[in-house]
Amino acid sequence: MYVIFLGAPGAGKGTQAAEVAKELKLAHIATGDMFREAQKKGTALGMKAREYMEKGQLVPDEITVAMLLERIAAPDCSAGVIFDGFPRTVTQAEALDKALTKQGKAIDRVIYIKVAEEELLTRLGGRWICRQCQTPYHEVVSPPKVKGKCDKCGGELYQRDDDKPATVKERLKVYFAQTAPLIDYYTKTGKLAEVNGVGAVEAVRKAILGSLKKGTPARK
Ligand code: AP5
Repeated sequence: MYVIFLGAPGAGKGTQAAEVAKELKLAHIATGDMFREAQKKGTALGMKAREYMEKGQLVPDEITVAMLLERIAAPDCSAGVIFDGFPRTVTQAEALDKALTKQGKAIDRVIYIKVAEEELLTRLGGRWICRQCQTPYHEVVSPPKVKGKCDKCGGELYQRDDDKPATVKERLKVYFAQTAPLIDYYTKTGKLAEVNGVGAVEAVRKAILGSLKKGTPARK
């Protein structure tokens, strides 16, 4: 099964994708995590991506698509993937469709996690992430048991540079201009299911799993 998690920055894509991928035994590909990993390693790709990420802009399609196509060729992707943060432009969506078609596959479902803008700002302002396993926490809604430490692996928690208010504002602007058009793109394919991303993390997960196990509900 090939599934896309679509939604604004802070909608909960990463939180949900990690657990849903585990439950359904799918690979989890998060392009933002891949870029941050490349930066940590100091690769040319990482340095190039940093120029855009620190401004809240998208990394150019040619760079992102090349990285993604290499990743989906890996053996762990053959049974299915949850794409988290990709595609983010129509050009990326078309490149993904083309690559999957070549393998005799296709996107099965697009889960659009919908959250109002005000809530997104609160979420990103309070987010802490594990440096080792990338698990996200929120200082109010889902704090770690021990301040500054990941419950899962004990790793150090940090706040992303691009979660600063000015950069978040730019990321949201970029989302509405360049990524939100994908809602219509995938609605036209009949594969998009809208899920309310507001509520307890477990309740949102249940709604996503329900939507993946049943047919695709129409968009509200
Ligand atoms: P990326 O890392 O993909 O960031 P994003 O899409 O902006 O998404 P976030 O990680 O901010 O949010 P999320 O939806 O995963 O929310 P989360 O689960 O963490 O991209 C970063 C940058 O990389 C981009 O700006 C761009 O420069 C570049 N990039 C990446 N992919 C690219 C691409 N395809 N093309 C070009 N450039 C690309 O949750 C957020 C917070 O809310 C957490 O604190 C969490 O604990 C909390 N939370 C989660 N669920 C709930 C809930 N139900 N209730 C209350 N709080 C909740």
